[in-house]
Amino acid sequence: MTKPISLIINGLPVQAPQGATILEAAQGAGIFIPTLCHCPDISSAGVCRLCLVKIARKKKLHPACHTPVPEGMEVITDDPEITRVRQVTLELILTDHDFNCLFCPKSGTCRLQQLVNQVGFDEDRFARLKRVAKDLPVDTSNPFFDFNPNKCIQCGICVRTCDEIAGVNALDMAYRGYDLKVSTFGDKPLKESVCVSCGECVERCPTAALVRKRIEHPTREVRTICAYCGVGCGLYLGVRGDTVVKARGDPANPVSRGELCVRGRFGYRFIHSLSRLEGPLVRAYDRIERVDSSGGRGKDGEPVTRPLVKQEGRFVEISWDQAINYVASTLSHYKGDQFAAMSSAKCTNEENYLFQKFVRTVMGTNNIDHCARL
Ligand code: SF4
Ligand code: SF4
Ligand code: SF4
Ligand code: FES
Repeated sequence: MTKPISLIINGLPVQAPQGATILEAAQGAGIFIPTLCHCPDISSAGVCRLCLVKIARKKKLHPACHTPVPEGMEVITDDPEITRVRQVTLELILTDHDFNCLFCPKSGTCRLQQLVNQVGFDEDRFARLKRVAKDLPVDTSNPFFDFNPNKCIQCGICVRTCDEIAGVNALDMAYRGYDLKVSTFGDKPLKESVCVSCGECVERCPTAALVRKRIEHPTREVRTICAYCGVGCGLYLGVRGDTVVKARGDPANPVSRGELCVRGRFGYRFIHSLSRLEGPLVRAYDRIERVDSSGGRGKDGEPVTRPLVKQEGRFVEISWDQAINYVASTLSHYKGDQFAAMSSAKCTNEENYLFQKFVRTVMGTNNIDHCARL
C-alpha cells in the first residue's frame, strides 16, 4: 500500500491517497467545496470554476477538482475573497440561464439551484449582468427525455458521460463564445443522432437541460435487479403509493456500478400495464377438454393473473396444475431433435441451468438456445 499524502486544508492536517485532487482530499476530510462540472465517475474538465481554492505561495486561484495534491500542500477552501469569486462566477453562469425555478422540472433536485442557495449571489450585481435568456428550440425528439439548451450551463458533463460511460459520442460542444452549445453531429435532433437513449447524461446533468419526459417523485425506493436481461444490473425502483414511477442505477452493484441501458432506466412502465401477463401462457389450438378446463374466459383489458390457453383465437383461464399437466402431456409426444427450446434472459442462472438440463436429459436434445445470445 502506497503512503498517503499529508497536506493542510484550512489549517487542519489531512491525509489523502496518492494521486488525489484537492477536491478528493477535502471531501475525504468532510470539507465542502462547491462543484458544478465535476462528476466523480468521469474525468474532470475544470470548466465551471466554482471549486476555485487558494494554495499557499501561489498567486492564482486553482480549481480543486483538477489540481492534484503534492506532499505538504497548504490549501484554503473558504474565505471572503473565495466566496466573492464563486458568487461572481455563479452570477455569470446565471446571466443567460432560463432561471424560473418555480416552474422548472428540476426544482428541488437541481445542483445549480442548490449552489445558488449555498454560495449565494449579489442581487444588484446580478441585475447589472443579466442578459435576456436565450430562446433556443427545445429538442423533444427523444422518446424518453428532452434537451432544453436554454437551461444548459455548458458544463460538458453530458459530453464526457456519453464518451466515457456510454462510449457512444453522440454529443459534443459546438459553435463558439456566446453561441457555444451542446450539439449532436450536424446539430440534428437527438432522435436522428447515434444516441442510444441510455439516459446516463440525463442522470448526471446538473440542471434541467436534460430531463426525463415523465417526472414523478417517488416517496420510497426498493433495491432490486433489472428483470430485462441476464446482465443483472442493480436498480433502485422509486415507488409512489403502489406505483413504480422511476428507476435509477444502483452504484453499489458490482455488475453495473450505477449504469443502466434504456430498458432498465426508462422501461419500467410495463410493470403496471393492464395487458401484462402475470402467469404462464399455454398456446393451445386443441380442444379445451384436453386440459380439463373449468375456467371461464379471460376478460379483455384486465391483467392476466392465471395461466391461459388459447382456443379459437381467445385465451381461456386455467389453473397452474392444468397448465403444467397440459405442457407435460404435450411434450410427451416429442423427443430428441423433434423438439427445440428457447430459454429466457429474464430467468435466473439457476432456472436457465435447470431448463437446459431438462432439455438435454429429459427431452434428449441439444436444441436449446437463449435470447441473450442473439
Ligand atoms: S435548471 Fe435549476 S436553477 Fe435553472 S430554473 Fe431549473 S431548477 Fe432553477
Ligand atoms: S446539457 Fe446538462 S450536462 Fe450537458 S452541458 Fe448542459 S448542463 Fe451540462
Ligand atoms: S442518452 Fe446515452 S447515448 Fe444518448 S446522448 Fe445521453 S449518454 Fe449519449
Ligand atoms: S467543479 Fe471544478 S471547475 Fe467545475
